[in-house]
Amino acid sequence: MSEFLKALPKAELHLHIEGSLEPELMFALAKRNGVELPFATVDEVRAAYDFTDLQSFLDLYYQGMAVLQTPEDFYDLAMDYFRRAVADGVVHVELSFDPQGHLIRDIPLPVPFQGLTRAMREAEETLGLSTALIMSFLRDRSPEEALSVLTAAAPYYHLLSAVGLDSAERDHPPSLFQGVFEKAKALGLPRLAHAGEEGPASYVHEALTLLDVCRIDHGVRCLEDPAVVEELRIRRTPLTVCPLSNVRLKVVETMAEHPLPKLVEAGLVVTINSDDPAYFGGGMLANFTACQTAFGWSNDLFKTLARNALEAAFMTEERRAELL
Ligand code: HPA
Ligand code: ZN
Repeated sequence: MSEFLKALPKAELHLHIEGSLEPELMFALAKRNGVELPFATVDEVRAAYDFTDLQSFLDLYYQGMAVLQTPEDFYDLAMDYFRRAVADGVVHVELSFDPQGHLIRDIPLPVPFQGLTRAMREAEETLGLSTALIMSFLRDRSPEEALSVLTAAAPYYHLLSAVGLDSAERDHPPSLFQGVFEKAKALGLPRLAHAGEEGPASYVHEALTLLDVCRIDHGVRCLEDPAVVEELRIRRTPLTVCPLSNVRLKVVETMAEHPLPKLVEAGLVVTINSDDPAYFGGGMLANFTACQTAFGWSNDLFKTLARNALEAAFMTEERRAELL
């Protein structure tokens, strides 16, 4: 393990907090809440993490959420992750959560908000970590439902740094959510969207032009259309790339074939992130290390990528100045 990569101050901009649920905590919460799991052991859970595509992962990801029932569960989930992130040399975490994944299980909106924001406050006070909260809409559910969640979240707008768009990308283009994102914009909320993970480069273009996003989550398939690469380059829109996720979900076959070097060479604002660290084989340091092993990048390049993330992060200018 590289001491340099560990010590490098890293900001994580693309993390699904529900995807940080390690099997050990999954079992502990299942026991606490009397939830039956379809697995007998931690090893059985890990053995199930053999994905063929995004949907095969999402099936397990939504199933795993069943153990999250109370504000305390969300607090434990986030604190567990924040401690691991700090051990990886992470100084700032932007956590996304999926309220619809909880609402459809009859877990009301205040439950994740209370638990996550309590953990965020505590992490800032006791771990020296800065944090930001992103509320994501599920693109494989209706835009009407997303709009009703946005409306219901009114008491919490002051806690949100942005709204996002995630879940199954194929056949769920950004254009479906234009109205929801216009409302978010009118409310003064910054906007992000997953695009160009499994979906085509045209979805990246749609996210930029129709949703007016300030960052693209993943975006790796932009390379299939030079015009979209140029659009990203001129706008300097950061991409939150998640290399180990892309390998696990078979967006790419191997790390060696990952297009990260091409994205960097194209002059794009690239950042490295973990996505769903419990499911994809590691957190921020594992993702940085995988890039070092696969691409033999210089320390200077890693510094540039870490700086990209600090510059693109939702944090006070005072905190940014302290970290840059
Ligand atoms: N892609 C889309 N939606 C998600 C992901 C992802 O990698 N992780 C959690 N929700
Ligand atoms: Zn993601």
